[in-house]
Amino acid sequence: MISTLLSQLNGPDGDSTPRLAYGADYNPEQWPREVWEEDVRLMREAGVNLVSVGIFSWARIQPARDQWDFGWLDEIMGLLHAGGIGVDLATATASPPPWLTTAHPEILPVTASGETVWPGARQHWRPTSPVFREHALRLVRTMAERYADHPALAAWHISNELGCHNIYDYSDDAARAFRDWLRDRYTTLDALNHAWGTAFWSQRYSDWEQILPPRLAASHPNPTQQLDFKRFSSDALKEYLRAERDVLREITPDVPVTTNFMVMGNTKGMNYPDWAGEIDFVSNDHYVHPGPQDRDELSFSANLTSGIASGRPWFLMEHSTSAVNWQPVNVAKRPGDLARDSLLHVAHGADAVCYFQWRQSAAGAEKYHSAMVPHAGADSEVFRAVTALGQTLKALAPVAGTEREPARVGIVYDWESWWASEQDSHPTALLDYRQEALDWYSALLALGVRADVVTTTADLDRYDLLIAPVLHVIPAPLAKELTRYAETGGHLVTTYFSGVVDENDHIWLGGHPGALRDLLGIRIEEFGPLLDGDSVDLDGAGTGTLWTDRITVTDPTVEVLAHYRTGTYAGMPAVTRRAAGQGSASYVSTRLGVDGLAGLLPELLGPAGVRSELPAEARGSVEQIVRRGPDGRFLFLVNRTDGTVPLTGLSGEVLVGDTDSEGSLVLGPRDVAVVRLPAG
Ligand code: GLA
Ligand code: GLA
Repeated sequence: MISTLLSQLNGPDGDSTPRLAYGADYNPEQWPREVWEEDVRLMREAGVNLVSVGIFSWARIQPARDQWDFGWLDEIMGLLHAGGIGVDLATATASPPPWLTTAHPEILPVTASGETVWPGARQHWRPTSPVFREHALRLVRTMAERYADHPALAAWHISNELGCHNIYDYSDDAARAFRDWLRDRYTTLDALNHAWGTAFWSQRYSDWEQILPPRLAASHPNPTQQLDFKRFSSDALKEYLRAERDVLREITPDVPVTTNFMVMGNTKGMNYPDWAGEIDFVSNDHYVHPGPQDRDELSFSANLTSGIASGRPWFLMEHSTSAVNWQPVNVAKRPGDLARDSLLHVAHGADAVCYFQWRQSAAGAEKYHSAMVPHAGADSEVFRAVTALGQTLKALAPVAGTEREPARVGIVYDWESWWASEQDSHPTALLDYRQEALDWYSALLALGVRADVVTTTADLDRYDLLIAPVLHVIPAPLAKELTRYAETGGHLVTTYFSGVVDENDHIWLGGHPGALRDLLGIRIEEFGPLLDGDSVDLDGAGTGTLWTDRITVTDPTVEVLAHYRTGTYAGMPAVTRRAAGQGSASYVSTRLGVDGLAGLLPELLGPAGVRSELPAEARGSVEQIVRRGPDGRFLFLVNRTDGTVPLTGLSGEVLVGDTDSEGSLVLGPRDVAVVRLPAG
């Protein structure tokens, strides 16, 4: 479906060769009619071929319960179509209008401490509210029926960033739906009581009606109740997504359906790998969070999105041309950042580069958020960069529809472990699941080694080295699978606080990490988390923070790759490796950070036979990603530095990039080059 969609994006005089999509959220209802024609003219100038319309238009489309106003939307759809611009049409359900919340305040979410989340911002609706659903699906049906045959309609955009503001709702609707979900999962109360460990603190339930979401409690709420509530909350939004999708599929079976995920930073509530199968193509929104690893984080998120999309092309539905408005300090992008950030997503499989938003708002909560057309207007550096990127994306048309070529190293990213490892009442509150995974990713980038970020359900056998940081939740079948992976030749690396609990968040007994104890050939009697600011030295493997373990080697064949030199466990093993069948299983018991991991990694990459594919002078400075299709392999080379990097010895057709007088590629500061090599 995505390829049909990409073939529609050629403009009025175009052929049907697939193109990368380029565009933005377009909110014409914020502007007087006379701006609309200029918008379409500037979109054409910039090379825009797809815009998302109607995302926050519910109050405009349906001003009262039985009153509809489609005139303006008909007109804008017509103008866009005449301009050769396709529409990713929103179902418009993201933000309920005041008439609805006034008539039905029972759709408003409730916090854990019982406060109502009032209207006034956006997304103030309960995912489980039957009343909200009835009204929202009526709108979806009306939209679908009206625009089913509109020639501008390219895709459906369900709601917006589902769960951005309403992932956790503790209302009575949520309580009812949570009970239904639990009955489905456990069937009997006995099974639930066992899973939740309710023998502890007198929590045994004797009736389903007694069960509540984990509302504000006197001390730590039951951990399995918390974990199940996270699972349930993700599932509740997934259910809602399906409900909208089903209406759309019924009326427009041939129009692809998507919704914009938020794979970035700490947006962990939504189990996206579990949602991805519900839509026709994956879309993601991403914003740079300034900091020392900001572009590594961008690459990591794009990479994970590709993993969630099973390596197939996906859409970058929103990012920013420059500053956002919702960080404590909103930094403008430097010259070159706009193109590099976008192309890094394309490198990782994005077939669309779209922004929030087309024209920067003059009013409202996001008026300081950058856009394609800034407050200054088209005579601006941002708009010139936007137009230049439009040209670059045209040159990259051959990339459209190609898939990302798998790497030899996989980093496992697991929502269940993310959720469970960071819950309260643990050995440390300082553990940051995503940061640990990102550090491994950055360390691999520093060595110039490509890695895929994958979920536990991916085909793990495709990786020679599998790094599973803080894989905290390991149910029995996964333990078996990882053991099989290593014994049949894979090289598994895992870290502190991995394999400690099962799917019910119950400890695997007999010494940690219970699920992997035999495979790793080690046994841990006690965890040794470190206070903030404390560290321990390892002999020859850097400095550890956050965590240490008291490790006993139980299998004499285990190699100790590093010992603790200081700290409570001085002299004891810190990093171990056991040869397991044809592969191996290694354990890293502390947080080494990017530099420490970059120092350790050659030792772990060696047995797996993985090396950098980059020329020595580019390792660390350049990130290389490969996309592959029937017409060739496309090498994306991204300058990670603020300096110039020469790339000698590369032959191929340069689609994007500069060459020196000798014809060698040269990557300027933050530049991206794309080279096409013959297929093979
Ligand atoms: C007190 C309580 C116990 C237990 C411990 C934990 O002693 O009485 O039930 O919670 O604290 O430190
Ligand atoms: C997301 C939302 C947009 C807007 C931007 C701001 O992309 O979907 O509506 O709020 O964030 O960065």
